[in-house]
Amino acid sequence: MTHVRIYEVGPRDGLQNEKAVIAVDDKVALIKALVDAGLKDIEVGSFVSPKWVPQMADTDRVMAALDYTNDVNYATLVPNVKGWEGFVQASANLPRNAGEIAVFIAASEGFSKANLNCTVEESLSRLAPVVEAAQSAGVPVRGYVSCITDCPFDGPTPPEAVVRAVEGLRRLAPMPVSLGDTIGAGTPETVTRVIKAVAETMPISDVAGHFHDTGGRALDNVQASLELGVRVFDAAVGGLGGCPYAPGAPGNVATEAVVERVEALGYSTGLDHAALARAGVMARKLRG
Ligand code: HMG
Ligand code: MG
Repeated sequence: MTHVRIYEVGPRDGLQNEKAVIAVDDKVALIKALVDAGLKDIEVGSFVSPKWVPQMADTDRVMAALDYTNDVNYATLVPNVKGWEGFVQASANLPRNAGEIAVFIAASEGFSKANLNCTVEESLSRLAPVVEAAQSAGVPVRGYVSCITDCPFDGPTPPEAVVRAVEGLRRLAPMPVSLGDTIGAGTPETVTRVIKAVAETMPISDVAGHFHDTGGRALDNVQASLELGVRVFDAAVGGLGGCPYAPGAPGNVATEAVVERVEALGYSTGLDHAALARAGVMARKLRG
């Protein structure tokens, strides 16, 4: 049976959007429940500006409280050198490498400005020293490209802009790239078009699909991506989420729903459904 890897982003992409402060212990308990469900890649926070995203300001404390006796990749988002320094400091006393860092850019200028306060080109220049430092330190790097089909500010995104963004990231290092339908406006047609274009410039095995469910089409977009050979999907337990800088971006597609759809299509995920459901209950309780 072909394996599909679920990359859990709930503790970061999900919780970053919550207004009320969530206790470190609650975040850690949710992450533990996700580990118990069998997830091997869990995005646990970000080293971004606490003025921009206050909810993630405790990422160092979350990392310090995690269980490192397993083989889980606890990933974190890093937007610039200052974020890299935060990651290095937070990792210094851990029993082993926490996991990979994720660097993120947009395919559209409007979202780049709103999310990172710079142009796409500037964001790539800021990331160059981050990727270089991570490579020297042996820390794996994942890339994100946002707004792969539509931007809340600029409208439809041309596939060529996504290809340019992917190539920009992969010039820094040959990293895997998660393609984000940040506002959930994509359809199987627009998603297929952009993935086909990206697959001409990088191996499909390094492409992940990251779908938000605003339009109720995330699962169909997962299915369309599967048909093109994508085997990694980002998802958030309990459908937590959204992006604070993307108006109209509510939840990420729910991990439980992605698991159900891909398994119904004959793929395996290796996840424990009952344990995942328990994590979903915890996630929904954390939501304001
Ligand atoms: P800026 O204001 O332009 O930054 O923000 P700056 O370099 O001018 O610095 C301003 C202040 O922020 C300074 O402090 C810096 O030290 C501080 P001050 O002197 O005013 O006291 N600062 C930082 N502090 C902590 N950590 C840092 C950091 N950098 C600067 N790393 C910046 C630029 C990139 C920092 C800001 O725009 C930011 O934090 N943006 C991140 C927004 C974010 O996290 N968005 C959500 C994640 S992306 C997403 O959800 C999409 C995704 O899921 C995929 C998809 O769905 O498409 C990944
Ligand atoms: Mg997202």
